[in-house]
Amino acid sequence: MVDIVPLSSYPSNIDLLPAIQTCNITNLPENYFLKYYLYHALTWPQLSFVAVMRPRNGYTKHTGPGGSADLSGQYPKVVGYVLAKMEEEPTDGMQHGHITSLSVMRTHRRLGIAERLMRMSQRAMAESHRAHYVSLHVRVSNNAALRLYRDTLGFEVDKVESKYYADGEDAYAMRMDLSGMWLDWSEIEKQDRERAKGDEKDADEGEPVGEMGKKDDKMVRVKVGRGLGVGDLVERNEAQQQSVS
Ligand code: ACO
Repeated sequence: MVDIVPLSSYPSNIDLLPAIQTCNITNLPENYFLKYYLYHALTWPQLSFVAVMRPRNGYTKHTGPGGSADLSGQYPKVVGYVLAKMEEEPTDGMQHGHITSLSVMRTHRRLGIAERLMRMSQRAMAESHRAHYVSLHVRVSNNAALRLYRDTLGFEVDKVESKYYADGEDAYAMRMDLSGMWLDWSEIEKQDRERAKGDEKDADEGEPVGEMGKKDDKMVRVKVGRGLGVGDLVERNEAQQQSVS
């Protein structure tokens, strides 16, 4: 069984980076320093994903879905990854994502892992960064990857970049529109507000029971997350308040 987890989440899977680097070196001639993987994970934590083998006896509290080694020092086995970023200085001025590298170990190919990795990263680009599109480069001879990008995912060839690779091979520069995947935040916030109103109406806190019931504490409903207005999130200037009072 293979799980696909965000590279940088909580709990963090950042300690899988060396295994991801090994997976890259095993599958592709385009390799990177470890710090480049770390740069991706720290700068765009939502965009990169890793496919790990689920341990036969499930995860223990010492091993997350990815993450830390178990007591014997074993890390979950990495069988694929997608390393992705946002283009930092887009030449066309359009905010867009870029797939730096994708690979799946030979033992786990044709199981849909690359497709899932790609779709999860694309969704994160659209939802977290409002990316207009996602771009990538692929060798013109790489039929498997071309089939995946063009036929399965719907990428289109933007142009051919001559001698793009160190060995002189040309690359297809490909891209895929993501604007259809953007979230409509005003609609989501509206739904949140309606849900919160409904919760308030339906709230049934029941009669206080047991030890807790003896205390005369009143439950207070607080707003969290998106329910907070911007004003509520601004740190108050305590010093100013004191001087006023
Ligand atoms: N031949 C033809 N079509 C293929 C092949 C193949 N060998 N592999 C995948 N596809 C196409 C098929 O349409 C497939 O759907 P199907 O299985 O229903 O027919 C679809 O892609 C989805 O395949 P997945 O199972 O999701 O792909 P997989 O997990 O096997 O990974 C990958 C594909 C990443 C290209 C893998 O072969 C690999 O790691 N290759 C070496 C590394 C590589 O080339 N990476 C891409 C470099 S470009 C870049 O990094 C931006």
